[in-house]
Amino acid sequence: GAPLRIAIAGLGTVGVGTVQLLQEHAEAIAVRCRRPVEVTAVSARDRHRNRGCDVSMATWYDDPVVMAREAEADVVLELIGGSDGVARATVEAALSAGRAVVTANKALLAEHGTDLARAAEAAGVPLAYEAAVAGGIPIVKALREGLAGNRARRVYGILNGTCNYILTTMEETGREFHDVLEEAQHLGYAEADPSFDVDGIDTGHKLTLLTSIAFGRPVDFGAVFMEGIRHVTAMDIQQADELGYRIKLLGVAEETEHGILQRVHPCMVPKQGPIASVDGVFNAVVTEGDYVGRAKLEGRGAGAGPTASAVVADIMDVAAGRTAPTFGVPVDRLETGPAASIDTH
Ligand code: HSE
Repeated sequence: GAPLRIAIAGLGTVGVGTVQLLQEHAEAIAVRCRRPVEVTAVSARDRHRNRGCDVSMATWYDDPVVMAREAEADVVLELIGGSDGVARATVEAALSAGRAVVTANKALLAEHGTDLARAAEAAGVPLAYEAAVAGGIPIVKALREGLAGNRARRVYGILNGTCNYILTTMEETGREFHDVLEEAQHLGYAEADPSFDVDGIDTGHKLTLLTSIAFGRPVDFGAVFMEGIRHVTAMDIQQADELGYRIKLLGVAEETEHGILQRVHPCMVPKQGPIASVDGVFNAVVTEGDYVGRAKLEGRGAGAGPTASAVVADIMDVAAGRTAPTFGVPVDRLETGPAASIDTH
């Protein structure tokens, strides 16, 4: 078939990883999608930086919004990041020009996901974001397609690689939070503003997307209770250990008698439970559905390779014509209902 043409906005770690994956696996991808995938346009901040990937075949745009509107492309890949500004403008421009969007931007979708899903629906194009939640773990597709027949009871998990790395390292070495934070930042998993990681905000962003898919609700980031890991001490971890627990930063969404409760905070998890053995940059998501019971997915939650893996899966869905509503049901069928809250007083 005709090639699927991709325009890439943002050539950071994930953008470069995606270009490399598309090039290295080009043949297998073309066979699976029954058409080749070609990068035809790119836009990034510095045209002349050597990034270690070859984008010489693509047309260069200084402005990603202009690219999203005008490039010869079927799909716009938004890898800029941030919940507003140029990332949002790029996605909106792409959708209103009738182009599919693939993004890794959890902050953008957590803040504006319902509106963007509506815009995608109006344009009749997919808005795909597998890479936005838990990196390489295909949890969006698993919840939205693989477990679609179930009524969800609960979804929870470790959704931030940086925090899990910090907690694991504190446990292994007995060092304190502040000593380990910088090391985690050097690994390149942290957000541009690491407070998004350590204060639970990134986990909250990802949780709202899982909540929306699992429970068929509009995204409601404002309803999420968030507490991060700054106050966890090596002593807390050691005491939990003596009681048979480990401390993990969890995002939890569950049905309660007051509505859907979304919360992010450090939790004591039993050592023999489904979450405790997840170490380092790994993430894990556990879902509980009425027919399937408990199901768990685990894998790398951050980094170039795992994130590119998820981005490319979305591109291949578009190439093969596999589409699904952004949050599993059409936007006008998302159910608004009460949101439960945690009383912290
Ligand atoms: N900062 C995020 C993390 C990157 O550490 O998990 C992946 O979204």
